Amino acid sequence: MLITDPTKKLSFNRCISDGDLVIVYERHDIMKAVKVCENSVLQNRFGVFKHSDWIGKPFGSKVFSDKGGFVYLLAPTPELWTLVLSHRTQILYIADISFVIMYLEIVPGCLVLESGTGSGSLTTSLARAVAPTGHVYTFDFHEQRAASAREDFERTGISSLVTVGVRDIQGEGFPDDFVGMADSVFLDLPQPWLAIPSAGRMLKQDGILCSFSPCIEQVQRSCETLRSNFTDIRTFEVLLRTYEVREWKTDCSKVDEGGSVGFPPCKRRQPSNERSVQDNPSSLQVMARPSAESRGHTGYLTFARLKCLS
Ligand SMILES: C[S@@+](CC[C@H](N)C(=O)[O-])C[C@H]1O[C@@H](n2cnc3c(N)ncnc32)[C@H](O)[C@@H]1O
Repeated sequence: MLITDPTKKLSFNRCISDGDLVIVYERHDIMKAVKVCENSVLQNRFGVFKHSDWIGKPFGSKVFSDKGGFVYLLAPTPELWTLVLSHRTQILYIADISFVIMYLEIVPGCLVLESGTGSGSLTTSLARAVAPTGHVYTFDFHEQRAASAREDFERTGISSLVTVGVRDIQGEGFPDDFVGMADSVFLDLPQPWLAIPSAGRMLKQDGILCSFSPCIEQVQRSCETLRSNFTDIRTFEVLLRTYEVREWKTDCSKVDEGGSVGFPPCKRRQPSNERSVQDNPSSLQVMARPSAESRGHTGYLTFARLKCLS
């Protein structure tokens, strides 16, 4: 149900049907994935929502509870899925994911190898990037995690684009069936340097590898291993800062030039038709401030291109 065919845009083409997966959006930080089932209800702090009221409505609709509360029903996308999936492991988030897909040059038709699968956060975006003709083969040595990931991929409708294997990639490497076939390989493993020689054998000529590691010591060790068969080795740390931009009621008598009381420095702009701040000491102002939820360090992304040996 995640849109994987670039010629279609689910939210514009289709209305919600019985059996669809929808993202129920209360606020940007309160969302959940729900499978629509004609006879079911969703109950939350806003009241009871009947799924039958949702069927036939376009994605993006605002729907109401028995008490007049509302939520929005959004079409599932890899970006939203990453925010609602159940965390069985640490996961990759949008800033790292988007950088990985760009830098690994993943486009429709690519064959991508990945390990470990973890919670399938990255895998879901990889699947959309290779769709409709490519494929992601992802491996995890933890059987239960692999099984749960498979269930999630069924649920999100991407299982035809992803195959999950159970395998110790650090110990055994990737299966020989993929030798010389992968456009790119992605590793999120505790000791990636053990899997790098195998990853190199799987790549097509000029293919690219990426390894995600939370610690710089892991990066140093991986780079040492990469130097024998790879070139153009680069490491990045992707830091994302999100902003809240909204109207705040401010008591301007307490606001200094650097920012508002109790908040980190923020940029202020008065709505256009208003009087000056001095005329109206308790006024509404449009403020922008860095979000307190901004994530700091997640990990380092090391990219390298297979050396051409001929
Ligand atoms: C941090 S998680 C990966 C998260 C994933 N990138 C995501 O975005 O959801 C690391 C995964 O690697 C798996 N793993 C660890 N060692 C492994 C090995 N030797 N072979 C295969 N998988 C392994 C773990 O079971 C775990 O599920």
